[in-house]
Amino acid sequence: MSVTSAKETKRITTKTLQVMKKSKEKISMLTAYDFTMAKILDDAGVEVLLVGDSASNVMAGHETTLPITLDQMIYHASSVVRGVNNALVIVDLPFGSYQGNSIEALNSSIRIMKESGAHAVKLEGGREVKECIERILSAGVPVMGHLGLTPQSIYKFGTYVVRAKEDEEAQRLLEDAVLLEQLGCFGIVLEKIPAELAAAVASKVKIPVIGIGAGNEVDGQVLVTHDMLGLNKEFHPRFLRRYLNLYDDIKDAVGKYKDDIKSVDFPNKEEQY
Ligand code: KIV
Repeated sequence: MSVTSAKETKRITTKTLQVMKKSKEKISMLTAYDFTMAKILDDAGVEVLLVGDSASNVMAGHETTLPITLDQMIYHASSVVRGVNNALVIVDLPFGSYQGNSIEALNSSIRIMKESGAHAVKLEGGREVKECIERILSAGVPVMGHLGLTPQSIYKFGTYVVRAKEDEEAQRLLEDAVLLEQLGCFGIVLEKIPAELAAAVASKVKIPVIGIGAGNEVDGQVLVTHDMLGLNKEFHPRFLRRYLNLYDDIKDAVGKYKDDIKSVDFPNKEEQY
C-alpha cells in the first residue's frame, strides 16, 4: 500500500519522505500561498506544500523573488497551514532573511515556525550557507536545501537558463548536495539542471531529492501551482506541464457573469429573496 493512500489521514512528516524515498514511492510537491488553494491541494493528497518565495512573482506580481519580506512569507504560510490536514508545509526563507549571519537565519526560521505553524524551512545555496543551516538545525527546525538554479541569486547568474551544464559547476553541485545531507537537511530541491546530474545526486544522497526541471530520476517533483494550473499565460519553460488552462477558463466565466448582469439575467427569481 502507498505510504499516502487516499484513506490515510496521517500527517506527512520529514520521516515519511525518507520512507517514501527508501520504498521508491515518488513524492508530490506543489507551491501554495493561501488557505483555499492549500485546502484543495491537501485534499488531493499532495504530500508536500511549499510556501515558496515565488509568491513574490505569482501573488504580488514582482519580477523576481527578491522583494518578498519575512512578514509576507509568514502571512502566506499561516494561511496555508490553516488549510492543511495532512501535508508537510515547508516555507522558503526569503532573500535577506538568512544570508547575513547564522543568528539572523535562526531568528527568521524561529519566527516562521512560531508565527505560521509550518513544519520546516527551505533555503537556497550550498557551502556558503553551511553555518546558517547548522544553526537552524540546532534549534530543531527541519531544513530543506535548494541547489541548481537558485532564483534569489538571479542578479549573479544574469539569466534563468539551465545550471550546472559544465563539469566544474556540476561537480560543485554534487559536493554541495552531499554537504547538505551531512549537515542534516531532510531533503533537497534541484532546480533546472541536467536530468543526468539530478539522477546522480538522487542516487548519491539518502535524503529525498525533489526536482523542478531536473528530470524524472529524482525522488519527487515540484511545480508552481499557478503555472501547472495555467493561471498565467506568459511562463512556459520546457519543464512545465500545464494540467488546466485556468486563465482562459476564469476569464470566460467572468465574461459570462458580466454579460448576465448587463442583460439583467442575474440574479433570477431563484437567486433572490
Ligand atoms: O519558490 C518556489 O516556488 C520554489 C520552487 C520553484 C521550488 O522554490
